[in-house]
Parts: sequence; structure tokens; C-alpha cells
Amino acid sequence: MELDKTIKKRKSVRNFKNKKPDWRDIIECVDAARYAPMAGGRYTLKFIIIDDEKAIEKLAEAAQQEFIKEVCYIIIVCSNPGRTIRDFGKRGEIYVRQQAGATIQNVLLKIEEKGLSTCWVGHFVDEQVKRILGIPDNVQIEALLPVGYEFRKTKSKKEIDIDNILYFYKYQNKKMKKIPKMDV
Ligand SMILES: Cc1cc2nc3c(=O)[nH]c(=O)nc-3n(C[C@H](O)[C@H](O)[C@H](O)COP(=O)(O)O)c2cc1C
Repeated sequence: MELDKTIKKRKSVRNFKNKKPDWRDIIECVDAARYAPMAGGRYTLKFIIIDDEKAIEKLAEAAQQEFIKEVCYIIIVCSNPGRTIRDFGKRGEIYVRQQAGATIQNVLLKIEEKGLSTCWVGHFVDEQVKRILGIPDNVQIEALLPVGYEFRKTKSKKEIDIDNILYFYKYQNKKMKKIPKMDV
């Protein structure tokens, strides 16, 4: 699938078929994470793949989201921020979260390309997820990605109008033609 199509087709899915994806496809989706940009080239991400029914049920409870129970796989995305914060200080804390986002998007797009579906789950009780998966205190959980096959196909959402998000030369300047003198 072309990149443009994959980007536009991706959407959050919260209803899944009772059909287990091939584990090799799940690994391939995580593999896409290796290519995300990292501040100072310091790779901070870690992934846990879960296919145990009981663990999935517990994670759904930790996230307080029933639909998660429908899947056969969850990818848990974590950051180990130690080296980045050591190198970049306070700014490093921001970088760790930003590069987690870039990485998650890589994985989401690969999931879409593979014909699978997911939803970025950011709401969960950290302590509960850590306890279930044995994640140490110094590691932060970025997202849970329940992966499966979409059950009832839903339409892609409406797009955000480009006029609402794009400025030229200065914040809030929507006109492209007249180039204001840069006051820098
Ligand atoms: C940081 C973040 C956290 C999110 N957390 C949740 C969540 O806990 N549960 C959920 O159902 N969707 C969650 N979402 C998915 C958004 O609700 C979804 O992306 C948004 O409604 C836009 O829909 P789309 O993904 O289909 O474009 C999260 C998305 C992001 C980026």
C-alpha cells in the first residue's frame, strides 16, 4: 500500500473479529518502530507483545476500556528515558514523549498496511499496567495498542480543513501571496 493511502486510511478501531492475527505480522509492525527518529540517536522505546487471554482482560480493566478484551494481541509501548534525560536534561523529558509519538505512528501505519486495525490507548492506570507486566519504576508506559481485524467496517473520519491549521511566515497569517517582512 502506498504511504499516502495508508496515512489517510488509518483510523481508530474499537470493535474486532474473534480471529487471531499471525504473530509474524505483529512482529513486523513492531519492527517499523526501529526506524523512528530519536534525539541524539538514543533509542528509548521498548515493546511488550501480549497474547495471553487473562493478561489482556486485566489490561482492559487497567485501561477501563471493555473493547480491549476483544483482541488477541496487545502491543505495549514503553520508554526508558534514562540516557536521553541525562544527555538533554529537562528538554530530554519532552524529547522522550515526542519520539514515543513518532514511533507509535510508525507502528500504527504498519498495522494499517498489514490490513490489521488498532486504537492508540493512552488512558490507563500506570501502576496497574506495571504490576501486570513487571515494568520497572524508571520505565514509563506510552500506549497500549490492541491489535486485531476490524469487525464492523466503519468509515474513515472527516478530515481537518488545511485552512484551519496552516499559517505562512507568521503565526496566524493565512495569506500565502503577500510575504511579510520577517521581523527577526
Ligand atoms: C495520546 C492519545 C491517547 C489516546 N487514548 C485513547 C484511549 O485511551 N481510548 C480510546 O478509545 N482512544 C484513544 N485515543 C484515540 C483517539 O480517540 C483517536 O485517535 C481520535 O478520536 C481520532 O480518531 P482516529 O484515530 O480514527 O483518527 C488516543 C489517541 C491519542 C493520540
